[in-house]
Amino acid sequence: MEKIFFALPGNDVLAKSLAGKCHAELGKAIIRQFPDGETYIKIESDVKNKQVILICTLDHPDKKLLPLYYLSKTSKELGAKSTCIVSPYLAYMRQDKRFEPGEGITSVYFAKLISSFADSLITIDPHLHRRNSLSEIYTIPTTVIHAADLISEWIRSNIKKPVLVGPDSESEQWVSEVADKAAAPFIILEKIRKGDEEVEISVPHLEKYKDHTPVLVDDIISTARTMIVTIGHLKKAGMKKPNCIGIHGIFANHAYSDLLTAGAEEVITCNTILHESNKIKIDEMISLSINNMQNEINKNLKK
Ligand code: R5P
Repeated sequence: MEKIFFALPGNDVLAKSLAGKCHAELGKAIIRQFPDGETYIKIESDVKNKQVILICTLDHPDKKLLPLYYLSKTSKELGAKSTCIVSPYLAYMRQDKRFEPGEGITSVYFAKLISSFADSLITIDPHLHRRNSLSEIYTIPTTVIHAADLISEWIRSNIKKPVLVGPDSESEQWVSEVADKAAAPFIILEKIRKGDEEVEISVPHLEKYKDHTPVLVDDIISTARTMIVTIGHLKKAGMKKPNCIGIHGIFANHAYSDLLTAGAEEVITCNTILHESNKIKIDEMISLSINNMQNEINKNLKK
């Protein structure tokens, strides 16, 4: 089945790259705001009988969701066979529990909403903490890509004698994998989050790693408080300046400059969210997943 890619606002670079790698058409659509703030959508390319791939990373998701919904619905109404959302960063995965009475478990509501208007989803390292897989909340087929290979490759080529540092127990899943692939030791710290911008972190004995270069690895850098507090502990312990790697660099407000000011040697992210720190490119892996998904669809059509 023929594929056609559309970029939601801000996703043009990735959409162009993926369409190129998949030898597919980059579709034209107008997405703009009316003066009253409502969204206008017009698809200018032919989508009839095609598989529509919508490229939309979902940081700051609230303002992105409605255009995404409209584009998916319009595609289907214009005869698209299916719509697939490629969202390198998947939002709302951290609200996976009612931490206090009265709170909404928004990861579930968000997953239901997406599942109601798209036919499949491809994402990179979603924040699976208290859940084992996306299928617990998403009812459409989902593909999860892991960035561990690319991150360990970056570490192997750029850092001499690294020791990987994971800020909390949930980071162990990706830190241990990256460390294993980079043939480096790793340590996992303990974190207690006390508020949006307040975290406490306890650090084990670091003496034996004094001649190593610490590499902080986390899935998300949002306010950067987790990494900033960790850097404070590493400094006190007399460790070298750390490199900070995040799969998804959200960098709320001035988090990026705060992290550099706090003493990060370098901040590195994957290009799941467009930012100057994007040094690890995930385009190739996503295009392979899109093609694999296509093969699965073709197989099912032949049955
Ligand atoms: C937490 O559960 C995540 O794995 C990250 O540690 C967290 O999102 C980082 O947030 P921040 O940069 O705001 O400390």
